[in-house]
Amino acid sequence: MCGIVGYVGSQSALEVVMAGLKRLEYRGYDSAGVAVLADGGLAAAKKAGKLVNLEKELVEKPLPTGSTGIGHTRWATHGGPTDANAHPHLDNAGRVAVVHNGIIENFAVLRGELLERGHELTSETDTEVVAHLLAEEFSATADLAEAMRLVCRRLEGAFTLVAVHADEPDVVVGARRNSPLVVGVGEGEAFLASDVAAFIAHTRSAIELGQDQVVELRRDGVTVTGFDGRPAEVRSYNVDWDAAAAEKGGYDYFMLKEIAEQPKAVSDTLLGRIDAAGNLTLDEVRISASELREMDKVVIVACGTAFHAGMIAKYAIEHWTRIPCEVELASEFRYRDPILDAQTLVIAISQSGETMDTLMALRHAREQGSKVLAICNTNGSTIPRESDAVLYTHAGPEVAVASTKAFLTQLVACYLVALYLGQVRGTKWGDEVRAVIRDLSQIGGAVEQVLQTMEPVRELARSLADKNTVLFLGRHVGYPVALEGALKLKELAYMHAEGFAAGELKHGPIALIDEDLPVVVVVPSPRGRSLLHDKIVSNIQEIRARGARTIVIAEEGDEAVVPYADHLIRIPVTPTLLQPLVATVPLQVFACELATARGNEVDQPRNLAKSVTVE
Ligand code: F6R
Repeated sequence: MCGIVGYVGSQSALEVVMAGLKRLEYRGYDSAGVAVLADGGLAAAKKAGKLVNLEKELVEKPLPTGSTGIGHTRWATHGGPTDANAHPHLDNAGRVAVVHNGIIENFAVLRGELLERGHELTSETDTEVVAHLLAEEFSATADLAEAMRLVCRRLEGAFTLVAVHADEPDVVVGARRNSPLVVGVGEGEAFLASDVAAFIAHTRSAIELGQDQVVELRRDGVTVTGFDGRPAEVRSYNVDWDAAAAEKGGYDYFMLKEIAEQPKAVSDTLLGRIDAAGNLTLDEVRISASELREMDKVVIVACGTAFHAGMIAKYAIEHWTRIPCEVELASEFRYRDPILDAQTLVIAISQSGETMDTLMALRHAREQGSKVLAICNTNGSTIPRESDAVLYTHAGPEVAVASTKAFLTQLVACYLVALYLGQVRGTKWGDEVRAVIRDLSQIGGAVEQVLQTMEPVRELARSLADKNTVLFLGRHVGYPVALEGALKLKELAYMHAEGFAAGELKHGPIALIDEDLPVVVVVPSPRGRSLLHDKIVSNIQEIRARGARTIVIAEEGDEAVVPYADHLIRIPVTPTLLQPLVATVPLQVFACELATARGNEVDQPRNLAKSVTVE
């Protein structure tokens, strides 16, 4: 969703801000703009479409050089993606400029009041009212930070705001309620951004802003207060992602790079969590063992790909701990009055740590007295900060909109939590935990092996580029994998794709099968749960009998599927519960290649945003 950058220092603000916006492009956007303070005034430029349009505009009509500036990439909510609706928005005198992420719910009332007071508003956005309100408050206070505090107290909704005023040329002010905003502190310079990717090329020293806080950035320091003006306590941290991690590193797309990084991401997520004797040590789970023993239910809340990770976690949690586990779409959760209490452990899974639906779900759970454990990839983000404990995944920055390496690391983290629960509750013996840990430690190598054998999958994907529909089937943990395969294809290839539990097929969806329809089937291991395996082999026969083209993902050595597979994709032998870690990889590669073959933008699919900060 919207990307924000603010800068004050001694470099060219325009250059720093444009470079920062480029690094935030992955968040998804449909217009962009900048404003700089220079020569006692304020100059702005904004354009619908991608950053390249804004760059052209800046070549045709250059802005003066200044060392204080703000920039924005907008993902349209109020009003379409036009030049007029792009941010920054200015007041009528052109002295204040503001950029915004989120939604101001009472903007219609505020807009009406401003019109009555003679302001002229030229866009359809909710943001523009803030520029006008700031101008009014600044004329009374001559202090942008104070003006921001006064304005914020009148706003309803979720918002991050960043503003500059021509009368305070060395100041950038930001405000945060619910939407993300981080501060970067450099030598004689300071940054504000939606996430650290925008400034890690300049500094790794960051400050996390809390709810309802206003930050004033000057070259020589940063001041943070609450909306009420009281000084606020802040948490500083060091960003451990390096700038190179957020570069494509020779790959055509971030998604390809991130798929390739999965073996490392999986192994990194285990680091520091297993002691020399092979025991699991999750010190981060700051919920005490006695509290965990009291839990009688686990509820997982998440969205999209993270939700699929949660669905897989349910199998592991229930199997290893015997605690009932529900998995719920975060966007549905709080609206159905879920049954929660102090004996419910809620697990919120989120790559970005900023997904509003998940944040609202966890807040609801905490209000009901439940403990919340976050599984998150982004240090300093809102979801871990508002949770009782957090287990960070170590995927590194995920830039492509479609989640890949974060998903695999979410799975690893979920397995660790499930094992830990089993360990503290005594449903898993130490040697059993160590055995699973050993299997998990080998998964990075197994993922690498899958990656080495993907050329036939790419070839197959290219040959299907003109298809309209692909179906995905799975059973047990293969079912969420099928859903994930379908989601990847929808979002990247813009194709109709659906995932089904294979056993459900005969209850309706089998009517969809016709001649040559590609159907991907994720086959469980024939070992151990052979009943499950036999059933899915029957399902493959059923669809093949109706003319479908079967694309079968099956374990090495599984010969039973061979006669029924038009295309066979082999994956290494893994324990049943861990199979999603290897079975998902060919589906990621398949979707990426098919999208490329259809000429789609792989890293930034249409209409999508990386971090969904509105409900
Ligand atoms: C799909 C995808 C999304 C996210 C979802 C949750 O590839 O990336 O479905 O998984 O928006 O995002 P996070 O994990 O940041 O809460």
